[in-house]
Amino acid sequence: MCGIVGYIGKKYNALNVLISGLERLEYRGYDSAGIAYVEGKTLKIEKEKGKISNLKSAIDVNIPSNLGIGHTRWATHGIASKINSHPHKVGKITIVHNGIIENYEDLKNELINNGVKFKSETDTEVACALLNKLYEDTNDMNETLCLFQKRVKGTYALGIICDDDYNTLYALKNKSPLIIAFGENENYIASDVPAILEFTNKYITLNDGEFAKITENKVTCYKDNEVINKKINEFEGSAESIEKNGYEHFMLKEIFEQPEVFKKTVFKYTENGIKSLIKIMPDFKKYKSIKIVACGSAMHAGIVGKSLIEEYGNIPVDVEIASEFRYKKLFIDKDTLVILVSQSGETADTLAALEIAKEKGCDTLGIINVLESSIARSSDIVLYTKAGSEIAVATTKAYSAQITLLSLIALNIACSKKLISEDEIKEILSEIKNLPIKIQSLLDKKDDYKEIAKKIYNKNNIFFIGRDIDYALCMEGSLKLKEISYINSQAYAAGELKHGTISLIEENTPVIAIVTNESISEKTISNIKEVKSRGADVVLVTTESLNKESDFYNEKIVIPNTHKLLQALLTVIPLQLLSYEIAKLRNCNIDKPKNLAKSVTVE
Ligand code: AGP
Repeated sequence: MCGIVGYIGKKYNALNVLISGLERLEYRGYDSAGIAYVEGKTLKIEKEKGKISNLKSAIDVNIPSNLGIGHTRWATHGIASKINSHPHKVGKITIVHNGIIENYEDLKNELINNGVKFKSETDTEVACALLNKLYEDTNDMNETLCLFQKRVKGTYALGIICDDDYNTLYALKNKSPLIIAFGENENYIASDVPAILEFTNKYITLNDGEFAKITENKVTCYKDNEVINKKINEFEGSAESIEKNGYEHFMLKEIFEQPEVFKKTVFKYTENGIKSLIKIMPDFKKYKSIKIVACGSAMHAGIVGKSLIEEYGNIPVDVEIASEFRYKKLFIDKDTLVILVSQSGETADTLAALEIAKEKGCDTLGIINVLESSIARSSDIVLYTKAGSEIAVATTKAYSAQITLLSLIALNIACSKKLISEDEIKEILSEIKNLPIKIQSLLDKKDDYKEIAKKIYNKNNIFFIGRDIDYALCMEGSLKLKEISYINSQAYAAGELKHGTISLIEENTPVIAIVTNESISEKTISNIKEVKSRGADVVLVTTESLNKESDFYNEKIVIPNTHKLLQALLTVIPLQLLSYEIAKLRNCNIDKPKNLAKSVTVE
């Protein structure tokens, strides 16, 4: 997944806007970066392998320019190299691209037979060459873009400059995100709003199959070459909301934002007690089953949701990995609610799963963080998490907000089916009010996790074990650790370890053991003793009510008790901070881990 940005106008110098935009988009991919800009009557291209800072030091941002496009790359076709980085230029056409052209090989062969000589290994250069060929044939950019859409299969968000008209910037979108933002006498394109938020917060979202013709004081959008009108949105949040605000990393800032995020996410559903929860949320009673479909941490949140919705809502829930869901035999129909969980709302596999669910006649509900994102716009119902912009590749606050909404869905179903007592509802609402303080109490213990991290940061294998929801939290804790510290880690159902994997437990192998569920705590503790007796160094994560001195652990993290519907929101905090501290000790690039991108908009 890559980041693209473009600018046309006289208020700012194009190169400044492009570099600033790319710096904010770097979390979307950082193999290489490049810009194309018009200086006088000449279009120039600068690109460098590696981080934006390499590109920044290779150019003079004060070169006067009113038109430019920029790109930061997460390699899909062709290694990370200068020649493969964007922008690409063929003939009169220069482009930046986010996405994958699926039929690029056929197109490439056709173009080679037409005499085109390619320099790079990328699908993007093929797209550029096709655009140039179509423009040579039609001498009309609108026609060119319409023909391009007919010829190309795949996903793309394109920023395009044509040498015949340096007063116009074009944007074209299919499945990869692309916004157009409005200044006074200047306009922007970008993969997401934070990239240009320091300049304006007014934007529109291009939908699939739409393109735009952008000058410094006019934006015209088209669908099938017919002019269409688009609603202008105002982005919630400010430029500083995407700054680090004094934190060393975005990830730490976002971990510490979780009390506020929880409050914002629950507010509108509980401001008038349970009545608002019932009123605002859809009627879940009509569904016979629920499928939660997602990827990565969002899928882990789904597993927590499954446990809670089944226990409190008494409805069967399956959790599916989106990349599996889209290719398997499915038993879903109008009686199945399909819930798509996604922070970015642009994850290709989750978006594809959404389309399949709709084809099968299912109602679809998106639990999404990014306003107006593709999955949000395509879902029948959207429940927005209120996590704000999440910049760190490793999700924390958005994951917690996803669990929050899934807990509220479980509560909603329990209330509407009258499966829960008034007293328990009162207890839950009271715990919802107290939860931000309890989360904060764990954040305040940040230095305790640092001490534990010092003891295990140099290990090569770390295990997480737990049962029920604690097992789901183990999955998330293990992924956080792997993502940012590059330590190999496995999450295991505590009762399953002895069926093979326990053979990997050696002297001083760290095992993070999570025990928060009183009803099965003894079972988990006996599993912990099994690994302890084989030499493991156990870090126990447990609640105040289950806390007791014993010799089956080496280190202990005690978290406050809360209602089971909310307990995961406390359990995850030490796991996030432990991973963060371990990654710091290993001098890893915490906000931009190697090989990763914030949102995977390709298969
Ligand atoms: C989690 O830290 C990762 N960044 C990754 O697993 C992420 O959760 C996954 O790619 C899904 O992204 P989404 O929520 O934007 O769909």
